[in-house]
Amino acid sequence: MLREKFSSGLAVFFATLGSAVGLGNIWKFPYLIGQFGGGAFLLVYLLCIVFVGLPIMLGEFYIGRKMRRNAVGAIAALAPNTAWKHIGTMGVGASYFIMFFYSCVAGWVYFYLFKALCGDFSAITMESAKAQFGATIVNPVTPVIWQGVVLAVVATILAMGVSKGIERITKTLMPLLFILVILCDIRALTLPGAFEGVHFLFDVDFSKLSAVAILTAMGLAFFKLSLGMGTMITYGSYFTNDNNLFATSLKVALSDTLISILAGLAVFPTVFSFGLEPGAGPGLLFMTIPLVFSQMPFGGILLIAFFFLAAIAATTAMLSLVEVPIAYMAEERGVSRPKAALFNAVLIFAIGVLATWSVDKDSLLGYMTFMGRGFFDWFDYLSSNVMLPLGGLLIALFIGYRVDRADVERELSNGGSLAVSGLLSFYFFAVRYVTPALLIIIFLNSVGIIKL
Ligand code: PHE
Repeated sequence: MLREKFSSGLAVFFATLGSAVGLGNIWKFPYLIGQFGGGAFLLVYLLCIVFVGLPIMLGEFYIGRKMRRNAVGAIAALAPNTAWKHIGTMGVGASYFIMFFYSCVAGWVYFYLFKALCGDFSAITMESAKAQFGATIVNPVTPVIWQGVVLAVVATILAMGVSKGIERITKTLMPLLFILVILCDIRALTLPGAFEGVHFLFDVDFSKLSAVAILTAMGLAFFKLSLGMGTMITYGSYFTNDNNLFATSLKVALSDTLISILAGLAVFPTVFSFGLEPGAGPGLLFMTIPLVFSQMPFGGILLIAFFFLAAIAATTAMLSLVEVPIAYMAEERGVSRPKAALFNAVLIFAIGVLATWSVDKDSLLGYMTFMGRGFFDWFDYLSSNVMLPLGGLLIALFIGYRVDRADVERELSNGGSLAVSGLLSFYFFAVRYVTPALLIIIFLNSVGIIKL
């Protein structure tokens, strides 16, 4: 069977950006910045993107495009009969862990879109915003239904294939997302007291940093750029031969970061203007956005548009998450795409409901905690803070020390046709020394073996 590919450089860019941009930008990024106190966390995050994220993204692109196979198969073919292929296996595992909780939050977004369509937010106040969100997440039925809807949508698009499914959807919807975030910003920044929020986001106060904050910022960098688990290997395997991988990684990382910051600029001015708590946690987005648009002309329509686009972002990111096991099952196990899509949707739903039922202490399974965390928090913590950085570390070591350097140079320079020799030396220095060292230091710091 002929393997599918994206049709152009633009398609590569939008699909990859579609994977990177997701709930990470509009939901996780603002609430983590809120919890960990603003600018200093943002700075550590940006450093992680540059020194850890970009080198690993390029490494994943190399593996994928060179081998033109799924994450497990590509690594296994590059280093036959070695344990390296388990980077891919762990990646498939991590993609499930993420999907278990991601599908839950995506379900909230779909539900909020539905509520916006019904005009449920027309008379919203700070108290009612909080109360509505609280009631939504502890309800044992509604969020589970929406989680199922999300998974059905994702499985249907994926069953259609790479170019008819992933490419078509991301190319149409990513530009729209950008425009909508900007509209939200304009509104949020013109609220009374908005600039307190801007200060919160950009003022750097290092005394607020802790070992957990640094680990979380790094985990967020991985999560944001979809790294350390084979997504970028899988997508890289669909890239065109003449794509400039350096340029793509840079464009994706920059655009993604810009969208996160724009989302922060929509959320924090609102938080301060309405006197909400910046550290409110996972509900932050769902309480602020309805407030941003309340009592303004056309607010109802903008609110629908915003949640529609949040739903798009969540969906396109999920396409790339579920594509990891689908590509694996299709290529290594000979399962057809539609069957693999259905199987994965059912599996994710079956375990994902545990996340949905354990979000809050008042949830159905809210009493089931293990060392202080319920299922939702464990799936999130283990994937972002452990599996992705560990996968990333192994990928950096694999590229830096295991594979043939000349081969990497050939792939990243498109067979020598791109003048990137300076960049390549810099790249190898980063991937051999800087990236692994930083990852190891942050790990050791987080378990308390060393103190930053
Ligand atoms: N990058 C996505 C987001 O920010 C999440 C994601 C993680 C997608 C890992 C694919 C792989 O929402």
